[in-house]
Amino acid sequence: MVDLKRRTFLQHSTVGLATLGVSGLILRCDAQPTQPISRDNADQILIQMGAPQQEITPKGELRKITPQPYGPFYRTGAPFRGKLSLPGEPGTTFVLSGRVWAYDTKRPLPGVVLDFWHVDMQEKYSDGVTDFRNRGRLVSSETGQYEVEGIRPIPYRPNPTGAPEFWRCAHFHLVAVCPGYQPLVTEIHFQGDAKKNDPMYRAENAIAVEERNVNGKVFQTGVFDLVLERTAK
Ligand SMILES: [Fe+2]
Repeated sequence: MVDLKRRTFLQHSTVGLATLGVSGLILRCDAQPTQPISRDNADQILIQMGAPQQEITPKGELRKITPQPYGPFYRTGAPFRGKLSLPGEPGTTFVLSGRVWAYDTKRPLPGVVLDFWHVDMQEKYSDGVTDFRNRGRLVSSETGQYEVEGIRPIPYRPNPTGAPEFWRCAHFHLVAVCPGYQPLVTEIHFQGDAKKNDPMYRAENAIAVEERNVNGKVFQTGVFDLVLERTAK
């Protein structure tokens, strides 16, 4: 069943991709950022999609996601791409995938803009101005599915000189925005993380990691489903 109200909203909205400048969304090999959009206006990126070919229902009860703060390293305008890290980025290749669900309809949500950012192997975030390593946005598919490839984030010390003993657990940062739904800001953690004594560690946000070897290439995978709640009327 298609959410007709939402489709109508998307089709009739006067704020869409065109307002961003189509040229800003053409993918380039050097992954230039798009025009800056403020954090509060992130849901102005609208994607129109058709209905999924088959009915998709959750396997179990949909669980609301524990939110987390943005933290100090979020930057707007990350490039749209399925690879967060450049070729040759040091670290363990990691493929993160999942599906976005609507809590109200219990159906997949297409067209959700997902914005990821994480540290490199030096415990550093790229500046998000001239350097967008380990940052990227993409859009959930007509079946709510997403998949990104990057490196596995490592634990880091936010203040290595002032508080060298304070470690953040390893995490992907993520914000998900979709018209009609509350933006979700959260972190994806890892089961068995070496720094899970971090008070911000949330077992319910922790993914299982699977090691894969395909054609001699070793990498890791994890699955994290998102659940968005309707905006209050
Ligand atoms: Fe972080």
